[in-house]
Amino acid sequence: MTIFVTGGAGFIGANFVIDWLAAGHEPVVNLDKLTYAGNLENLVSLKGNKKHVFVQGDICDQGLVEKLLAEHQPRAVINFAAESHVDRSIHAPEDFIQTNIVGTFRLLEAVRAQFAKMNDAQKSAFRFLHVSTDEVYGSLSLTDPAFAETKRYEPNSPYSASKAASDHLVRAYHHTYGLPVVTTNCSNNYGPYQFPEKLIPLIIHNALVGKPLPIYGDGQQIRDWLYVGDHCSAIRAVLERGRLGEVYNIGGDNERANLDTVKALCAILDIARPRSDCKAYADQMTFVNDRPGHDRRYAIDARKIIAEVGWRPAETPESGFHKTVKWYLDNDAWVKNVTSGTYRNWVAQQYQ
Ligand code: NAD
Ligand code: TYD
Repeated sequence: MTIFVTGGAGFIGANFVIDWLAAGHEPVVNLDKLTYAGNLENLVSLKGNKKHVFVQGDICDQGLVEKLLAEHQPRAVINFAAESHVDRSIHAPEDFIQTNIVGTFRLLEAVRAQFAKMNDAQKSAFRFLHVSTDEVYGSLSLTDPAFAETKRYEPNSPYSASKAASDHLVRAYHHTYGLPVVTTNCSNNYGPYQFPEKLIPLIIHNALVGKPLPIYGDGQQIRDWLYVGDHCSAIRAVLERGRLGEVYNIGGDNERANLDTVKALCAILDIARPRSDCKAYADQMTFVNDRPGHDRRYAIDARKIIAEVGWRPAETPESGFHKTVKWYLDNDAWVKNVTSGTYRNWVAQQYQ
């Protein structure tokens, strides 16, 4: 048996593939377009591993996906592939429509064609797991209850709107064609291999190279942070025990205002790698213009996945933040590589 993963050279996909193979599960076919966010260096620990088959390609290429599915006959498809950065979706939404909506549609079509060829036993074992985000639910006020799976979709950015559209397609393929799907909607992740355009790796990187730590608006926007390894364990659990056609919200019950997140990271760095002038990294914090349409608060009600699937996060916020800072300190060659070239153009466009 094999599983088929899309976007497995990105942040969460790479962590998922590495954890999956480390746990001794079946081989993985990994289809990734290798956009700016996809990086084969994330998978360097799997070099020579015969249980990992990497294919560079686009989920929009239905013919390629059909060919790979026919060749490998996976028992599951897990869709991580996406354009994933809200700020980029504000500058240039088109790629988000293409990959997140059209790409998911093409992938579903290819999977539907393959599913039709399966025998009954293969059909009942097969799963299509769609990895989505809590951002589809929109923004909460301080007093609103956390997002339950029944919350109305109210996406506010081109990114979240495109993910919402993909979620709807996945749902429709279950109800219309009987495709055995499950969807997960997870809160903000952090951890190893996250591209330093997202808040946590950006802050660690900028702190260490002596650059300003940009805080959008008043820094009081709240995110519900989850360590990436816990997201991966939730996906494994849902793949195994999730009910068909269901949606599971994933979160670590770790709501924090951005300002507090940045301060916590600075405090860890102050001890782990003190500044040469002995000043605090927090001195580098700089308030900058807010993001247009910036969602104020996300929070996940994870009671369904806990009760039905029996998943719980293994990391506390403290242990997760410490692990992450340590990983970035230990992997400066990886950081140097991904922060060269086009990364600089992005930073110049976004922050200057
Ligand atoms: P990422 O941007 O780090 O990685 C995305 C990967 O998809 C990259 O390797 C990229 O090369 C690949 N890709 C992009 N377009 C493709 C295409 N057309 N065909 C094939 N591959 C393509 O993203 P991530 O943070 O790892 O997120 C993975 C998934 O999890 C996304 O679907 C995202 O919406 C979802 N998610 C992310 C978070 C988060 O905090 N990062 C939280 C919840 C859900
Ligand atoms: P981000 O990591 O981009 O994730 P998302 O927008 O998907 O939640 O941003 C997390 C939060 O941090 C969000 O409220 C925006 C804020 N932020 C900053 O304040 N400064 C920054 O430079 C970045 C990238 C994000």
